[in-house]
Amino acid sequence: MTAQPIDGTALATKIYKKLGDEVKTLLQVGVQPCLATVLVGDDPASRHYVHKKQEACKLLRIEVLDFQLNSNISQDELVSVIEELNGNEKVNSILVQLPLPNHIDETVLHSISPDKDVDGLHPLNLGLLLQGKERFVPCTPKGIIRLVKSTGILIESKHVVVLGRSNIVGKPTAILFLRENATVTICHSKTPNLALFTTQADILVVAIGKPRFVGGSMVKERAVVVDVGITKSGGKFVGDINFESVSKVARLITPVPGGVGPMTVAMLMENTVLAAQMQFKNKDGS
Ligand code: GUN
Repeated sequence: MTAQPIDGTALATKIYKKLGDEVKTLLQVGVQPCLATVLVGDDPASRHYVHKKQEACKLLRIEVLDFQLNSNISQDELVSVIEELNGNEKVNSILVQLPLPNHIDETVLHSISPDKDVDGLHPLNLGLLLQGKERFVPCTPKGIIRLVKSTGILIESKHVVVLGRSNIVGKPTAILFLRENATVTICHSKTPNLALFTTQADILVVAIGKPRFVGGSMVKERAVVVDVGITKSGGKFVGDINFESVSKVARLITPVPGGVGPMTVAMLMENTVLAAQMQFKNKDGS
């Protein structure tokens, strides 16, 4: 038997339809959502991802302010750019593309106004998520939950195993599944005997950045497998799972490309529209 793919592109397209209507409503009251994208340096992969995000904005009539900064910019200079965007009334939302050059600490993200933090990575927004009072939820974890829910499978009481403990994917993904009443295990590079855990997963999320790391022998029969990894290898994109071998064991599987990636972008658009709506409400007093 072969696993069914979970089509992230199709789900993202549905979400864009709904968001298009919401942007139209905002435009009718004179509000055009505006996202500032900040890219530091010239990493081709980051440039590609920022371009994808900007294309989605164009599709939805969300204005983009594009900041491309030299890789040798100092931490203080980057904070100044962010603070200027915080103070710019036109800008509803700010995205600083990661990773940043080594000399810049990711704590620069703390200087983004929590009201414009559409990546959901500001400590306030991560804290709210932890308390179940979320406002902006990090885009990839939010997209993963939507993808799994779109299949109609019940998350409650399932065992979810998350491979990877990054602040941007692993940890918030675990929290979101916990909110859905799953039993959650987080594994990482120091976990001995990974397969002992992964073979118990009803839902397995892999976010480790190691191409084709997870094979069929590491996966439970009929599991749902979400592949967050994306690496260019031999001229094509591959994920963290070995698609061919895992397909023979799993029930549902996200492809790379076309699985989690398009949902990350769609969730950024959703958060950007949400930021514009919240800021309009605050201004309007309604
Ligand atoms: N780099 C890889 N994924 C992301 C993301 O979701 N947001 C940001 N800002 N950078 C990323």
